[in-house]
Amino acid sequence: MITPLVIAIAGGSGSGKTTVATEILKRVGSHRIAYLPHDAYYRDLKDLPRAQRDLVNFDHPNSLETSLMIEHIKKLKNWEAIELPVYDFTTHTRTDRTIHVEPQRVILVEGILIFAEPALRELFDVKIFVDTDPDLRFIRRLERDIRERGRTTESVIRQYLNTVRPMHMEFVEPSKRYADVIIPEGGFNTVALDMVISRIETLLESKEHNPDE
Ligand code: C5P
Repeated sequence: MITPLVIAIAGGSGSGKTTVATEILKRVGSHRIAYLPHDAYYRDLKDLPRAQRDLVNFDHPNSLETSLMIEHIKKLKNWEAIELPVYDFTTHTRTDRTIHVEPQRVILVEGILIFAEPALRELFDVKIFVDTDPDLRFIRRLERDIRERGRTTESVIRQYLNTVRPMHMEFVEPSKRYADVIIPEGGFNTVALDMVISRIETLLESKEHNPDE
């Protein structure tokens, strides 16, 4: 039996990870990829009063149910389908819905903390870290959180200073050492993207990952 190829994309919040992931989905073909964002595995805070939820440290590894993600990757590697949780960033809760994800030849995993977890790291075949300066990451996050996640400028600034920045320095930045490839400036780096995509294609053609071999 061939083994699915697991590609992992890490990098700080606002680094452009999703842009890189989207480009890989587009160019390798989304029909060949099972896409798992770590964000989908944030723990459900529905039992916590609303005012307290806003103060939770969402940038610490404990805020995510990584054990469930590990279980899902192992299932997909074993050619079994999974139910991906759907998380609501505006209420900090897991919704009742799930997305049915079929096993594919490529599993694409994305998240700020995925290289900080040894048990996750060992499941990855290709590890990419998107490296973007903090000022750009903050500006992107501010715009996105106001537009898509129901936040105010004040709340984004407070969260950035209290948790996002210190946790980035403690967990995300040091995890860069585990990357096989470091892409400066995310999805707009076409040279790096071309290299990564041709490597994925080569791996897909290799004996281990190709059903026709
Ligand atoms: O998409 P991105 O990589 O930016 O998502 C990770 C970020 O989401 C974390 O930095 C965390 O602070 C934020 N987050 C949040 N509220 C939640 C869950 C995560 O602001 N309820």
